[in-house]
Amino acid sequence: MPTASTTHHADHAAVLRSRVVTHDQVAEATFRIRVDCPPLAARALPGQFAMLRLADRCDPLLARPLAVYDVFSDGIESRYADFLYVVHGKFTRALADVRPGDELLVWGPLGNGFALPSAGHLLLVAGGIGQTALLALARERLGRARYGLPARTADPATRVTFCWGARTAAAFACTDDFRKAGCDVHLATLDGSTGTRGTVVDLLEERFAGGIAAADTRVACCGPEPMMEAVAAWAAGRGIPCAVSLETPMACGIGICFTCVARIRDADGGWDYRRTCVEGPVFDATRVVW
Ligand SMILES: Cc1cc2nc3c(=O)[nH]c(=O)nc-3n(C[C@H](O)[C@H](O)[C@H](O)COP(=O)(O)OP(=O)(O)OC[C@H]3O[C@@H](n4cnc5c(N)ncnc54)[C@H](O)[C@@H]3O)c2cc1C
Ligand code: FES
Repeated sequence: MPTASTTHHADHAAVLRSRVVTHDQVAEATFRIRVDCPPLAARALPGQFAMLRLADRCDPLLARPLAVYDVFSDGIESRYADFLYVVHGKFTRALADVRPGDELLVWGPLGNGFALPSAGHLLLVAGGIGQTALLALARERLGRARYGLPARTADPATRVTFCWGARTAAAFACTDDFRKAGCDVHLATLDGSTGTRGTVVDLLEERFAGGIAAADTRVACCGPEPMMEAVAAWAAGRGIPCAVSLETPMACGIGICFTCVARIRDADGGWDYRRTCVEGPVFDATRVVW
């Protein structure tokens, strides 16, 4: 029986009181939290996110967006949603103290998620905690899982390469999830503690020094904005289509407050502010005014 109870309906999502099932530290200052939230787990698509608040607390007042890392079944239905987060500010510091059995307020899935381009070679590129937006996409394209209600059918990828850059080796969390999904995993660290020494773009240059079949490749990318800008330039320089998932700060998550706007190019060459919570967070990288 679902334990999440619906307390309020908005156009885009209902706010659900959701019980925390497990909560573990998985890397330096990084936690994985599983919530019992069947409506979210059933509908979430790769690249979508949810807004989270601590139940019965007003501080912090505003919810924070976290990517839906993956969803799990109880054997009967999609029921659990996992999130991975880095302890960063007020919300994530408080979230780290939450225990199994406590409740969170959760609304989602939100945003557009990744669309369904067919790609022989899907190249996933993450920086920092940006991998959270990419695991479900890898699992879907490698035929390991289906997402959505009804479950969507995705064009399979013949190969998924995952390139991930972080400050240091201790920051990598749950890397085996990507290996188990069938990804070819490559790491880079700024301090050289594991993988290639340097940024994830240095890693891309190294891995694909011999060239890359641009017509057959699609890039999906998430991480800090300067990193995504650099990856977008790397992909554009090789003629590879690239989708980026923006991590703009958000307050409502459902299109009301306009705190989340980014500058996005229009078809006529101009640009306008677009709300990343409803029109994104995933955009074609060539449309983003960095
Ligand atoms: C669609 C989406 C998905 C996300 N998924 C994840 C995820 O899976 N895991 C995860 O750990 N984080 C994720 N984030 C980022 C996370 O929502 C923010 O880091 C959030 O602010 C953390 O809340 P906090 O209260 O701990 O920190 P805050 O107190 O909100 O932030 C502390 C400081 O960081 C600044 N800041 C806040 N957000 C950002 C940002 N996005 N970019 C640059 N500076 C910022 C603030 O201005 C402040 O100075 C995601 C963001 C978006 C938009
Ligand atoms: S977060 Fe409120 S409009 Fe996007």
